[in-house]
Amino acid sequence: MSRRGFLQASSSFLLAAGLPSSLLRAAGSNEYRIIAAPARARLAGRDRPETDVWAYDGTVPGPPVRLRQGEPARLVVENRLAQDTTVHWHGIRLPNAMDGVPGLTQPPIRSGDSFVYEFTPPDAGTFWYHPHANSLEQLGRGLAGAVIVEERDPVAVDRDLLWLLADWRLKDTGEIASGFGNRMEAAMSGRVGNAVTLNGQASETERVRTGERVRLRLINGSLARIMALRFEGHEPVVIAIDGQPCDPHEEAGRILLGPAMRVDVVLDMQGEPGRRYEVVDDFYGGLSYRLTQLAYDPKPPIRDRPLDAPLGLPRNPLPEPDLGTAERHDLTLQGGMMGGGLMAGMGGMMGGEMMKGMMGMGGGPAWAINGMSMTGDGHAGMEPALTFQRGRSVVLILRNQTAWWHPMHLHGHSMRVLSRNGAPVPHRQWQDTVLMAPKDVVEAAFVADNPGDWMLHCHVMDHQMTGMMTVLRVT
Ligand code: C2O
Ligand code: CU
Repeated sequence: MSRRGFLQASSSFLLAAGLPSSLLRAAGSNEYRIIAAPARARLAGRDRPETDVWAYDGTVPGPPVRLRQGEPARLVVENRLAQDTTVHWHGIRLPNAMDGVPGLTQPPIRSGDSFVYEFTPPDAGTFWYHPHANSLEQLGRGLAGAVIVEERDPVAVDRDLLWLLADWRLKDTGEIASGFGNRMEAAMSGRVGNAVTLNGQASETERVRTGERVRLRLINGSLARIMALRFEGHEPVVIAIDGQPCDPHEEAGRILLGPAMRVDVVLDMQGEPGRRYEVVDDFYGGLSYRLTQLAYDPKPPIRDRPLDAPLGLPRNPLPEPDLGTAERHDLTLQGGMMGGGLMAGMGGMMGGEMMKGMMGMGGGPAWAINGMSMTGDGHAGMEPALTFQRGRSVVLILRNQTAWWHPMHLHGHSMRVLSRNGAPVPHRQWQDTVLMAPKDVVEAAFVADNPGDWMLHCHVMDHQMTGMMTVLRVT
């Protein structure tokens, strides 16, 4: 469907459904109006109860925001929630004042007020937007949406699909379980839920056609759930990570997606007409589940043999760090419970051993970076952990001394991931969210070219809120 057709269809749908008619984008412009407000959604399927959510434009996820690379965008966000909010345009390299961190880069948007975000996205790719105020609860109640910055020269595919994945903790009644900010969880894996949705719904099937080539944009919008996706009978080729093109490559078996990460893959649909193939998330081993199924149309293939058009995307204008002169700095991740795993400690395992490594039991922060704990969503008055002269090349050496996984996110920049545990990282990968396994050491480089105070934090929301956050300053 053309851009126009898509937008018209969705606005008339919203109007028909009696929802706020806020997805207003003047034809041919990069302008949106987005309303954050309570809504209801049918997450678990038609015969299941509805859920009270907080939503952008009345839908979970919110409407995909489509922008054009290098063209000014204007996004008006109106807050009709009963509490403060902001929007963070995750992964987009934008001016500091547009970054959406309350207290640090802008005042919070009060209930009833709005805020105008204006920036020109330098990079094409798959990004997303979410609140940076009361983040754990606001994201956990549904506030999230995709941002797609279109390439001038996209890869040739038959269809461009978006899967925004989200993880919910639902009660039998369909309501979202309260208890956001449980200190015990915060010191472990964070709030991992019990229901995963694909574009806001429990997914049965994704319809495909033999012979077609699909670009699939994967976004992990979970609070805490890490995903490892396996496509039975298919070999997805990774073409971009966190919105940044990489050398196209097949991932051995599964696509690893930490919270807030994005991976763009190309799938050649070479399955048999009429057959179904499972897409499984088996990150937590024994707790693996079927995310959806690729359901092949029984019709004959749309072409005899797969396309052999090239899969490489044009590179974005990222400054290449000069590794010879780069400043090198250690950032050590500390805290949390001893012993990793999913919810280790919850099932009566909370012995003295488990408690020992945890800093949070007395009500203090659970996590730290270089011995310092910044808590909440971001605020002013915290000395930056590091200050860089604008234009300097920087290598961060991220050391995970904890027993838990952490997707570490840097605002305002994208980092070239150089090595993991001493081994060079192939395929020229740039990331804004680097997933760290327990005890991992990762070297990541960037040019500190974007002036301002930038958050660096774990994107497991409970970890961020309880101390795994700091500020890097570019002057
Ligand atoms: Cu997507 Cu500071 O976060
Ligand atoms: Cu973390």
